[in-house]
Amino acid sequence: AKARHFRWEVSNMFWSPDCEEKVLIGINGQFPGPTIRAKAGDTIVVELKNGLHTEGVVIHWHGIRQIGTPWADGTASISQCAINPEETFTYRFVVDKPGTYFYHGHYGMQRAAGLYGSLIVDVADGEEEPFKYDGELNLLLSDWYHESIYTQMVGLSSKPFRWIGEPQSLLINGRGQFNCSLAAAHTPGAKQCAVAGGGNRHCAPVILPVLPNKTYRLRVASTTSLASLNLAVGNHKLTVVEADGNYVDPFLVDDIDIYSGDSYSVLLTTNQNPSANYWISVGVRGRQPKTSPALAILNYRPNRASNLPPSPPPPTPAWDDFARSKSFTHRILGLAGNTPPPPAKSDRRIELLNTQNRMDGHIKWSINNVSMVLPSTPYLGSLKMGLKSAMPPSSESPSDTFGRGYDVTRPPANPNTTAGGNLYVIAHNATVDVVLQNANALARNVSEVHPWHLHGHDFWVLGYGEGMFDEKLASAAFNLRNPPLRNTAVIFPYGWTAIRFVADNPGVWAFHCHIEPHLHMGMGVIFAEAVDRVGELPKAAVSCGATATALMAGNGGG
Ligand code: C2O
Ligand code: CU
Repeated sequence: AKARHFRWEVSNMFWSPDCEEKVLIGINGQFPGPTIRAKAGDTIVVELKNGLHTEGVVIHWHGIRQIGTPWADGTASISQCAINPEETFTYRFVVDKPGTYFYHGHYGMQRAAGLYGSLIVDVADGEEEPFKYDGELNLLLSDWYHESIYTQMVGLSSKPFRWIGEPQSLLINGRGQFNCSLAAAHTPGAKQCAVAGGGNRHCAPVILPVLPNKTYRLRVASTTSLASLNLAVGNHKLTVVEADGNYVDPFLVDDIDIYSGDSYSVLLTTNQNPSANYWISVGVRGRQPKTSPALAILNYRPNRASNLPPSPPPPTPAWDDFARSKSFTHRILGLAGNTPPPPAKSDRRIELLNTQNRMDGHIKWSINNVSMVLPSTPYLGSLKMGLKSAMPPSSESPSDTFGRGYDVTRPPANPNTTAGGNLYVIAHNATVDVVLQNANALARNVSEVHPWHLHGHDFWVLGYGEGMFDEKLASAAFNLRNPPLRNTAVIFPYGWTAIRFVADNPGVWAFHCHIEPHLHMGMGVIFAEAVDRVGELPKAAVSCGATATALMAGNGGG
C-alpha cells in the first residue's frame, strides 16, 4: 500500500458542459475534477485549496467509509469546518475496499455546481476481482442546470416556493449537448449537434474505444442533483457485477437504473457487428422527463469515432414504469461467499417517515415531521468536546418511530412541520435497522423516488415493500440470507425500504436523500456514533464556531 498525494485547487471557471457557456466549480481548471485512481489499502492525501473567493468548501468521498478518520468525511457542519477562501485543508484517508466511487462538494448545493469527480479503487496487489475483463471504461453521470446554484437555493427557500424544475442537460463525464441531438437522424424534430465524435470542445461526445470480441468493465456512477437515470448500450447486454463498491451476484440486463449516489460496474462483451459504432444512452426515469437523453459512442476500433452509429439510440424505459425499476432493484443481491451476511437480529430500529411539509409558508421535506437544519459548529467537534451549547436548540432526541395512524396514501392531514437537528445518538457496535417510509407529497397522487445515502458505512438492504411498513409482515420477509451491501438505497413511491448496519465506526455521519434540492430542503438525519471513541481531531477541522472558542480558551478537551 502506498500514499498517493494530490494538490487541488477548487475554483469557479467558465465552462460549456452542454455547449452553453456558464460558470461552474472545477478543480485544477478541470471539469469534472481529476479522477483519483488507487489500490485498496492505499492512503489518499488531498491538499485542498479553496480558490472560491466568497464561500467555504468541503469535499466528501462518497462510498469511502473513513474508518478511523471521521474528520476526513468532508461534510460541512457535520464532520468539519468548511475551508475558508484561500485556505488549504488536507484530507488524509485510507481507501480500504476496491470499487467504483466518486467525490463531491458537500456544502450548500456545490455538488450541483459541478464540484465532483471519480474515485476508483482497484484490488490490492495479489488480489483478484471475482470476474474477468479485458479493459475498462468509466462513466460519471450527472445532470446540469443553466441557473446558478445561488438562484436555485434562493428559489427553494423563497415564499412562494420556486422549484428548480428539470435539468437542461444530462452529462456523461461532464459532457452533454443542449438543444440538439447527436442522433438527430433518429430523433424526430431534433437538429443535429454541430459537435462530432472526437472533437475537442468541452461538449463533444464521450467516445469509448473498444476492440471487437473483448469484455469490458463499465464503471458507472451517478452524482445527479435530481435525475434518476437509466443507462443502455445499443445492441449490447450488460452483466451487473458491482454496486456501491460491493460485489453482487451477477445478473444479465438490457439496461440499468441508476439513482443519485449509486455506482455500478457492468460487464459488456463487444460481440456485435464490428463495422459499426453503437450508442450509449442515458435517460431520465421516475419523473416526467423534460431533458433529452445524453449520448456517448461505443467506438469499435478501427472504425472512426466520428462515424455515427447507424441504428437508433436504445430507448429509455417509460419514466413511470416503477414495476420495471423495482424488478431491477430487487435483483441486486450479495455475492455468495463474498458478501458477509448481516447479524441475525438488530438492537434498535429507527423508522423514518419521509414527508413533504410546510413551515411558515416555505416548503420543506421532513423526517418524522422534523426538517433537518445544520448547526453553525460542526457536530463532530462539538460532540467530541462536549459543547452542548453548540447544538441547535431543537436537537433533543428525535423520535425512533412515527404514528401508525399516518395515512401514507394521502397528502399530510396536518402539513405543518418544524426544524430540528435530527441528531440520533447511536451506541457503539449496535446493530441498527432503519426503515425508510415513503408517503404522499403535498399534492395529491404524488409520491417521489428518494435515494438515501449513508456516510461512514455500508448497509445491508433487507427488503422493500409497498404502503405502510407492517412490522410483522415485513420482518418475516426480510432477506437475511444474501442481501446486498450498499451505501445508497432507494425508496419507491408509497413504499418502504429497510436497511441494517453495524455502528462500528465512531464518528458523526450524515444519512440523507441524495437529491441535492431535497437535502437542502431538510431531507436528512445525522447519526452520532460513539464520538467518545473518536481520535484527536485535526485542529483545522474544528477551527470555527464554538469549538474554535473552546480551543482558544484552552479547554479543547480531546
Ligand atoms: Cu454523496 Cu452526503 O453524499
Ligand atoms: Cu429526496
